[in-house]
Amino acid sequence: MSFLSNLTWRYAEQHFDSNMQVSNDHLHQVLEAIRFAPTSFGLQPFHAYVVNKPELKTQIRAAGYNQPQLEEASHLIIFTSKNNTLERIEEYIELTSDGNPEEKEKLQEYKNMMTRSLGKLTKEQAHNWAKKQVYIALGFALAACAELQIDSCPLEGFINTEINKILNLQDTEDSTVILAIGYKKDMPHRPKVRFPEQELFTQL
Ligand SMILES: Cc1cc2nc3c(=O)[nH]c(=O)nc-3n(C[C@H](O)[C@H](O)[C@H](O)COP(=O)(O)O)c2cc1C
Repeated sequence: MSFLSNLTWRYAEQHFDSNMQVSNDHLHQVLEAIRFAPTSFGLQPFHAYVVNKPELKTQIRAAGYNQPQLEEASHLIIFTSKNNTLERIEEYIELTSDGNPEEKEKLQEYKNMMTRSLGKLTKEQAHNWAKKQVYIALGFALAACAELQIDSCPLEGFINTEINKILNLQDTEDSTVILAIGYKKDMPHRPKVRFPEQELFTQL
């Protein structure tokens, strides 16, 4: 199928067949799509928790307004955003330079530029910036699922303080959005509703 037909094939599924599991190979491909998504400065200020344990999914459903996808899906990919930006810059420089002092020196100007730009953010602003990066990764994961004919549903409908508790997160990390993946139950879809092109786009 073409890229666009994959996108029109996918729906935000409301019910999954809980007997069907996404294979490890397909799961790995979805996670690679997340890993290769572009982010501002390349800092990838997020983490994703992949939940497969039924008892954990039951707890997450309770924190998610009882939405059935959260328990029925094969896997839940819980994206968290991280606001320890300065630490992340250090980690990025370490990774890029492979710990080599000469390489680090060459990266000093880039490091200064990132620090000037991000170092002034408050903790809340840093979280909001990180969340924007999470949503790019979410988009890549959604497209990867469609390509692999995996059904999915993105979800923001959950009490994030409760999810943070379930995942035992530190205060530098905040649950942001969940992607439920699996195989849908054979039920009719809600219609696909989109605003027309002329309403969404202006060619100048
Ligand atoms: C960030 C985000 C959060 C969403 N949260 C929920 C949710 O909590 N529960 C749900 O059933 N659908 C949720 N959706 C799905 C949207 O309602 C759905 O994508 C939209 O209506 C378009 O339908 P389609 O994806 O089937 O084409 C969410 C979608 C996005 C992108």
